[in-house]
Amino acid sequence: MLGNFIYYNPTKLYFGTEVEKNLSDALKNFGKRVLLVYGGGSIKNNGIYDTVTKVLKETDKEIIELSGVMPNPTLTKLLEGIKVAKDNDVDLILAVGGGSTIDYSKGVAAGAWYDGNAWENFWVKQNEPAADQKVIPVGSVLTLAGTGSEMNGGSVITDEEHKLKLGKVFGERLIPKFAILNPEYTFSLPQNQMVAGIFDIMSHLMEQYFSGDDDSTTDYIIEGIMRSVIASSRVAVKDPHNYEARSNIMWCATWALNTLLKMGKKGDWMVHMIAHTIGAFTHATHGMALSAISGAYYRFIMKFGQHRFARFAKVVWEIPSDGKTESELAIAGIEALENWIKEIGAASNVSTLGVTSDMIDEIAEATILGGGYKQITIDDIKEILKNSLK
Ligand code: NZQ
Ligand code: ZN
Repeated sequence: MLGNFIYYNPTKLYFGTEVEKNLSDALKNFGKRVLLVYGGGSIKNNGIYDTVTKVLKETDKEIIELSGVMPNPTLTKLLEGIKVAKDNDVDLILAVGGGSTIDYSKGVAAGAWYDGNAWENFWVKQNEPAADQKVIPVGSVLTLAGTGSEMNGGSVITDEEHKLKLGKVFGERLIPKFAILNPEYTFSLPQNQMVAGIFDIMSHLMEQYFSGDDDSTTDYIIEGIMRSVIASSRVAVKDPHNYEARSNIMWCATWALNTLLKMGKKGDWMVHMIAHTIGAFTHATHGMALSAISGAYYRFIMKFGQHRFARFAKVVWEIPSDGKTESELAIAGIEALENWIKEIGAASNVSTLGVTSDMIDEIAEATILGGGYKQITIDDIKEILKNSLK
């Protein structure tokens, strides 16, 4: 296990079905004025809104509502929320929804009491709020398992005018103070959103796994969670109300991106960087943008980290070595990943997301560069995108 690190995570998790009890317990530690943030209305259709507002009223909270947070939340919407939170001097932001709603709530929490251009300071310059700047605490009720936003500092916002989708990973002051994780709350998700969430989890695991070649406990944990995601996904796509599968998926999502699995690891994150730019250009669903380019991306970098790809094939996909060379085994692992993408119904090319060949140069040039086994260039991204068109 190489690398030095400090591990701390402040989120109190309440897992399971006793939502009313858990939420009232979680709310005890915060003031009266609660900004209730949610998306386009799914929580009104599935009853979660009624449950949450009942608990807020019973615990004597004053509710200020902020709704309409869209998937891939925009800068314009962020600025609206910052104003509402400040004008109402709220004590807590309660995000009820998926990653977009929780990410957005963190952005509002950071920006409300920042005296300046929040977008420029936090997302473009990647600064943290100053120690003496007030930051509003955030709590969450999760309704879509995927991003891990319920237990991390990530906040991804899209400047729609300039086609820029930027993530800021805030420090511990903006990691949610608590998260209510009721797997049944994800039952009302449309199948494509469930699948997108599942692939997002797998992608977070792969982004961290495909870097380094030391003997790291973190990699063994990642492999275990990957196997659980794959097994549960196969049950959930056929039987979406299977509590065991959906609860495993929810638990995997939280651990896939709550900082534990980056301990001692460099990570890659280029699949996310390219997918974010695709999202900025097409508004594609995050998990689908990831699945659409993963096959082509991993085929492209495989030769730079072949040993790890062969291990991925053997341990995660249980592909027998029987006489295969390391390179053959590595390719078989990527093929297994591609087959699984099709099996669960995730996007397997970018054309279905609205990307056309004439957009490739612009998308490649707008992407933030990095990489794990290979430092990726703009030309590399062009090649990967071309290979992702079908
Ligand atoms: O808006 P509502 O009505 O809530 O509907 C949402 C939305 O249309 C719907 N939905 C959520 N829960 C539901 C439900 N519909 C029925 N029943 C339920 N229980 O699903 C749609 C998608 O929701 P969204 O929150 O956008 O999805 P997701 O959780 O995948 O979040 C995506 C956003 O998170 C960012 C992505 O870039 C994207 O902007 N990410 C955040 C990360 C982080 N914080 O660390 C990391 C990720 O890699 C990702 O970048
Ligand atoms: Zn993701």
